[in-house]
Amino acid sequence: MRMQRRELLKAGLSGLAGAGLGLTGLQEAWALGAPPPNQFSSAPELAPFLGLQGEDLAAQDLRIEGRLPSQLRGVYYKNGPSLMGRAGERYQHWFDGDGLVQAWRFGDGKVSHQARFVQTAKFKAETVAGRFLVPGFGTAIEARMPTRGSDGMNVANTSVLMQQDKLYALWEGGSAHELDPQTLATRGVKTWAPGLAGMPFSAHPKVEADGTVWNFGTMAGRMAIYQISAQGQVLRSEVFASPGPTAFVHDFAVSQNYLVFLLPPLHLDLEALRGGASMAGSLRWQAAESTRVLLIDKADFGRRRLLEIPACMLFHFGNAWDDGQTLHLDYVQSRPMPSLNQEFAQLMRGERPASHEALSVTSTPRFMKIDLSSGRVELQSRTEAVEFPVVDPRVVAQRYRHVYYPLALETGERWGFNGLLHLDLESGRRERYCFGNQVVVEEHVMVPKPGSRQEGEGWLLGLCYDTQRQRSFASVFDAQALSAGPLAKVWLPYWVTYGFHGKFYAA
Ligand SMILES: [Fe+2]
Repeated sequence: MRMQRRELLKAGLSGLAGAGLGLTGLQEAWALGAPPPNQFSSAPELAPFLGLQGEDLAAQDLRIEGRLPSQLRGVYYKNGPSLMGRAGERYQHWFDGDGLVQAWRFGDGKVSHQARFVQTAKFKAETVAGRFLVPGFGTAIEARMPTRGSDGMNVANTSVLMQQDKLYALWEGGSAHELDPQTLATRGVKTWAPGLAGMPFSAHPKVEADGTVWNFGTMAGRMAIYQISAQGQVLRSEVFASPGPTAFVHDFAVSQNYLVFLLPPLHLDLEALRGGASMAGSLRWQAAESTRVLLIDKADFGRRRLLEIPACMLFHFGNAWDDGQTLHLDYVQSRPMPSLNQEFAQLMRGERPASHEALSVTSTPRFMKIDLSSGRVELQSRTEAVEFPVVDPRVVAQRYRHVYYPLALETGERWGFNGLLHLDLESGRRERYCFGNQVVVEEHVMVPKPGSRQEGEGWLLGLCYDTQRQRSFASVFDAQALSAGPLAKVWLPYWVTYGFHGKFYAA
């Protein structure tokens, strides 16, 4: 028997499993057109922050609106925080949720969807216990089970990387989790080399056109650098004391000759942490300090150079390139982390952050040029409200001209991105598309068209949530004609939680 909306509210989402109403039941209830639960009804775009309940999803032969390019064949994997509450306890930060990996399979004019939770040690133990057992990044939960190292809190929720027959679910605070790319079954924690066991492996590895993978990890003031072959062998690695704060280093950039880090002046207040605050709640922004620019020579990790720029906070880089004289890179600057955390807490309560405080309004593109002889840094900024920059995978660490972002365009009070932006860095041309305020737009990746050679020839592919239909869909654009609108939308018969990052792997 279907549970009535009111009963659903009364039971509370965390009680659903106990009430015998699994994910399917929850989604059926939502699918019947009833309004989202009370606390989110005034902000329907926040409904996906309610989270899913820990069960797998699958749907075949998805409804395709428009024309899907016949050459688009392969799998779009996407990761994101998805389980947000257990036994009446809810996470207070978007970054805390347990990782759900989705696989959108494109081929022969058809699309299927599959999603499975990563079976981390934490997820498995908490599923058995029926409640949270360890703290989240942004939620102070007393440790109810002993954990060893950072992998005890690993939620594997941020991005994916595929190498040959191995798919990895990534989380910056710990090890990668290896998954079966066909079934999404979790195989276990990845150790790249015996000396690197338990060393964090960030969620933003950079993959060059030849398959070489560069990545880093930070732990207690130390940084690890990894160079991994296309076959998955660690070619070189180094662990060293960081010359700047590493309390929150989320991404980096790679050019022909350098690994580039921006180390924002965020410090971990250990006293607050010991006093029971969450990790996110223990971060302190030192506005008077600089953001350190760390350049590491790819040919010799021991050759490191440190520059300084005024304090700035960022999550994501687009790309970088250098000609030996000048290093060029782009990133998206955001507000400092401590104030952003308040916004994330509001989102998890179903409250819209004030528009002037919203991430989507205050995060904007930056372009940096570094004179490699003098160390002089030049910065240019733009004002579009964006995040999640991507480039054509063929130009990673090479000279590039195109960057693509989700864009917030006249959203009013509504949270989130509602469009896409393409910047041509050489011509200065800007192209935009807006879905309207009914749709929340996530990261869109650039998928090269098979057989094409030119940067930018291909499609933009990503996920969206339609707040009125309460359904998620994938949208596919011609990357060279963004303003013409999506070529196709592929609809799920249900909704999924918002994800962070994805990757497309051609079949
Ligand atoms: Fe990220």
